[in-house]
Amino acid sequence: MLVLLVYLSGEGNGFLGRVEIEELGKAYHCPVRAKERLALVEDCGKDFVWRLAYAKLAGKIISEGNLGEIEVLMADPYFKEDHTGFAVNVWKLNTEVDSSELKKKFGDLISGKPNLSNPREIFDLFVKEKRIWITRRIWENDPKDFAGRHPQRKPVFHPTSLKPKIARWLINLSGLKPGQSLLDPFCGVGGILVEAGLLGIKSTGVELDKRWAEGARRNLEYYGIENARIINGDFFKWENGQYDAIVTDLPYGRSSKMRGEMLNFYGQAFEKFAEHSNKAVIMGPMDLEATLKRCGWNVKRKLSLPVHKSLKRWVHICLR
Ligand SMILES: C[S@@+](CC[C@H](N)C(=O)[O-])C[C@H]1O[C@@H](n2cnc3c(N)ncnc32)[C@H](O)[C@@H]1O
Repeated sequence: MLVLLVYLSGEGNGFLGRVEIEELGKAYHCPVRAKERLALVEDCGKDFVWRLAYAKLAGKIISEGNLGEIEVLMADPYFKEDHTGFAVNVWKLNTEVDSSELKKKFGDLISGKPNLSNPREIFDLFVKEKRIWITRRIWENDPKDFAGRHPQRKPVFHPTSLKPKIARWLINLSGLKPGQSLLDPFCGVGGILVEAGLLGIKSTGVELDKRWAEGARRNLEYYGIENARIINGDFFKWENGQYDAIVTDLPYGRSSKMRGEMLNFYGQAFEKFAEHSNKAVIMGPMDLEATLKRCGWNVKRKLSLPVHKSLKRWVHICLR
């Protein structure tokens, strides 16, 4: 059985990555065991690790056991095959192990010459306390990929536009797969729609403000996304369509005095969401569980997310 080890990003000691991989694991019917920054994924992990936002890399587990028995672990015939052109990295988790010594030992026990500048295959050794996992890398997150879609790099910038990593994360929490459909009823300049499009998810965005609706169209076009459409109009007056999930970042009131007004607005929005889908991932400026419940939504999971130092957002994964 193929078991992958995924090294999650450090935010919240892996919290964002753990939630993401657990929700995707459920969607792909694939067992996931995640603790701190490590996640083990059985069988079908290859189907979805490539789309993770809060993960650094993933590898196939070749061998695992006690660090003190590395000679025994590497007596496996796999390591006697010629691995010329390999490189090795050590990832230390709660351990004092000497990385250079461990790399040297690995190099002595594997057949073939290393090539650090242009490796043909990369082995990642994860050491946690006294345990070691020897993995062969199958995927790594390219930070330049997300950086290239930073809101300020897009043709049209919106002041509350989501960073692509967060947008991708929200979509992943919905468990939507390529070919399924997403609705963002408050799409701004399309931060969520761009990420959905890149994952092969069909999306529809509704935006009240003509400037932002036009901006969303331009941003989608810039990234070559064709499976998305933008409606310029008021979501509350819009009646079309059923979607596999709603994924959205709600409009925010400009001051705390507007809280009551905003809760009323959100309540109306949540009732209308129910006309279009049975699943929703909703990001908002406050805990909205009570309002969601009143509107018939069952909040499966609620998370709070630090956006920056003084700003927090709540994310609600909801079903009907
Ligand atoms: C928080 S922003 C969304 C930002 C978006 N996620 C992005 O990454 O660009 C919320 C958007 O909802 C829009 N909006 C507010 N009321 C609306 C309504 N009734 N119908 C449609 N859009 C609305 C606002 O114009 C604003 O652009």
